[in-house]
Amino acid sequence: MKKIIDLIDQEMTAAFEKAGYEASYGKVTLSNRPDLCEYQCNGAMAAAKTYRKAPIMIAKDVTAQLASCPLFASVEAVNPGFINIRLAGEFLAEYMNQMAGSQRMGVEKTDSPKKIILDYGGPNVAKPLHVGHLRSAIIGESLKRMGRYMGHEVIGDVHLGDWGLQMGLIITELQERKPELVYFQEDYEGEYPEEAPFTIGELEEIYPAASARSKEDEEYRNRALEATHQLQMGRRGYRALWNHILQVSVTDLKKNYARLNVEFDLWKGESDVQEYIPGMVKELTDSGLAYEDQGAIVVDVKEETDTKEVPPCMILKSDGAALYTTTDLATIVERMKLYHPDEILYVVDKRQEMHFVQVFRCARKAGMVEEDTKLSFLGFGTMNGKDGKPFKTREGGVMRLENLIREINEEMYRKIVDNRSIKEKDARATAETVGLSAIKYGDLSNQASKDYVFDMDRFTSFEGNTGPYILYTTVRIKSILAKYREEGNSLEDLKILPFAQDSEKALMLETAKFNGVIANAFEDKAPHKICSYIYELANAFNRFYHETRILGEENQDRKRSLIALLILVRDVLETCIDVLGFSAPEKM
Ligand code: ARG
Repeated sequence: MKKIIDLIDQEMTAAFEKAGYEASYGKVTLSNRPDLCEYQCNGAMAAAKTYRKAPIMIAKDVTAQLASCPLFASVEAVNPGFINIRLAGEFLAEYMNQMAGSQRMGVEKTDSPKKIILDYGGPNVAKPLHVGHLRSAIIGESLKRMGRYMGHEVIGDVHLGDWGLQMGLIITELQERKPELVYFQEDYEGEYPEEAPFTIGELEEIYPAASARSKEDEEYRNRALEATHQLQMGRRGYRALWNHILQVSVTDLKKNYARLNVEFDLWKGESDVQEYIPGMVKELTDSGLAYEDQGAIVVDVKEETDTKEVPPCMILKSDGAALYTTTDLATIVERMKLYHPDEILYVVDKRQEMHFVQVFRCARKAGMVEEDTKLSFLGFGTMNGKDGKPFKTREGGVMRLENLIREINEEMYRKIVDNRSIKEKDARATAETVGLSAIKYGDLSNQASKDYVFDMDRFTSFEGNTGPYILYTTVRIKSILAKYREEGNSLEDLKILPFAQDSEKALMLETAKFNGVIANAFEDKAPHKICSYIYELANAFNRFYHETRILGEENQDRKRSLIALLILVRDVLETCIDVLGFSAPEKM
């Protein structure tokens, strides 16, 4: 379906042309005086210079052409030369009916579908998920869903950090605690046990302990570095331990992501691309791009137009070890080989921007990707506490994701049971659903690149620009529809009639924007645009709701029309919510 603004634009440009003016002057925008009209065209003012004519004259010439246009209730030329447009009730109703009758409420899939690899999540194995990983998961999941809704093939890859020093640290600490384990016997040739010699709880305690000790104890740190090296060289016992760590950790990660309604197609990680590194380094060196600098292998990536210094991209350290850049480059090599995507999009903390500038430039210079393969970086800002500093626990430690979710759910639960009699079990389940909306909407409603303040009280409020408010509105619609059905009515084959009051028109106008908003939001990789849209839509609905008798409406045709509009608004809201990565309960 065409966007409503394009339909209006079409009429206006045609009218400019018929009146003898350049069609391009007929561009229409949303009105900035919604009290006067819904859409407007300022083209007459711009055309005045070209045609040496008063803008109001031009505007009048144009409006004369539109006198009998069925789209408009009125088209007025007003001083000094604005054209104010008010839509006809029939046209708007017809647009609503078309939306309601189409599978996807008027959204057409893209005519150039792309294969996009979305690199998001990025948790580190054996380290607990913390709020820093929250944003990547939330924003990435939403982009994945938005892209799919628009008809692209989006492959989400969690890209585990599973190959770094943290592995060596855990192995070293385990050896301290349980030196008798068979994994540490160098001459052992038998099979290793299937069960891990630790639980996730132990693992989560081992890593911080090891990390803390390594900062104070140099000898310990060197042992951990050596263990990392040996693991990477393929020492059997360490490999077996590493497998256990991965297994235990991934099981736990999957559980946590599931609670966030986040799902990955690929569970690949840094370790998966190790086999590509030697060949990649050889090619870079053979082609002359990479050279030795104080023992390390580097590639120059700075460009003349740089305003900031872009240091060379380091491919191997002087001891031959691979780095973060190395694995990211090798991952590009693998992704091109296995998936041949049109685009790789990374959703990572914006503080890593320079890393990605280096990686992208190096990949391009070396021809690892094709000329038209897009490499994009969506850097997100920090989630801060109310003190404006990165979000911490009350004790000042790093907040674990699990605990954050628990706190939100507790708060939601309190609000839900307040003044209400509701079964404990139902209240808990609802609190989880609404809690998730609070976290996700709180995050997504901000432009991704900006820092934002995580404000528990505000995010969990049922009023204002929040997830719970959006859900509350959706549930309100659902319960009206449920009551209507309980009265013995069918929700099928209903027709939307022209609006009878202003708030109804306003609701229709807001609803009509859906296809434009969703396409544009993905284009700009901006989930916050969907958030602003549903906030406006929810406001329009609530205003309409307070002014309108719906179930009490006596004229049955009108009642059916109101119900049909509600169904459409519910579908739009629920689609948007789903694309953002959360859902609405039936009741709350
Ligand atoms: N594991 C990394 C971190 O915690 C994020 C990974 C982002 N993705 C990537 N391809 N580098 O900082």
